[in-house]
Amino acid sequence: MDLQNQMKQAVALAAVDQIQNGMILGLGSGSTAALMIEALAMKIKSGEIKDVVGVTTSFQGEVLASELGIPLKSLSAVSEIDLAIDGADEVDTKFQLIKGGGACHVQEKLVAALAEKFIVVVDSTKLVEKLNLDFKLPVEVLPSAWKQVQKTLKDLEGEGNLRMAQKKAGPVVTDQGNLILDVTFKNGIAQPELLESQINNIPGVLENGLFVNMTDEVLVGKVENDTVAVESLNKI
Ligand code: 5RP
Repeated sequence: MDLQNQMKQAVALAAVDQIQNGMILGLGSGSTAALMIEALAMKIKSGEIKDVVGVTTSFQGEVLASELGIPLKSLSAVSEIDLAIDGADEVDTKFQLIKGGGACHVQEKLVAALAEKFIVVVDSTKLVEKLNLDFKLPVEVLPSAWKQVQKTLKDLEGEGNLRMAQKKAGPVVTDQGNLILDVTFKNGIAQPELLESQINNIPGVLENGLFVNMTDEVLVGKVENDTVAVESLNKI
């Protein structure tokens, strides 16, 4: 396993250590969250964790968790989530995130918003001083509105491109049947909270990948002296 995957594995295990019997869990999406789901399934199988129920944030998570025998409920069947665990594409020093690299941020934000505690699990390559200098901001849009939203984003100095599929002609289609614009803002994102609401106010936008003031803890996998370690970050 390469070093990045070792870091992901380590944070996934550290997050699962926080799961207690009887919890309703938000199960995130992406490769780090998948490792967390696998680790959770192993602990359920061994009897170390009992009576938990998962709420998944994507088709990917739903298939994986159900194949591994994790009991699931739909989002509409729960009124609260005790603990949600998910990955991220960028994390800044104030625990503000860009998510949606897997085009799952609509359901991920719903689950994180309902969670009593939201833990983000990342490897050290995801830590940034300022959001959007490297990773584009995913914005989910209604298919019929993508051109109009693309145009309106220019008023916010955002340059958005339709995310194209691989091994399929045409664009990526989300779990909700929508499209994704990946957006770059000039000089990165200076005011995530303001921009999050400005983008969501554009007609035709379902949700953007800025997660502001939602994260309670960031667990980061690091390599120190050739050894993988996990650190719980302090918010600055
Ligand atoms: C999916 C996400 C993922 O959590 C994010 O892309 C990180 O994925 P990975 O753990 O594979 O790097 O937001 O929409």
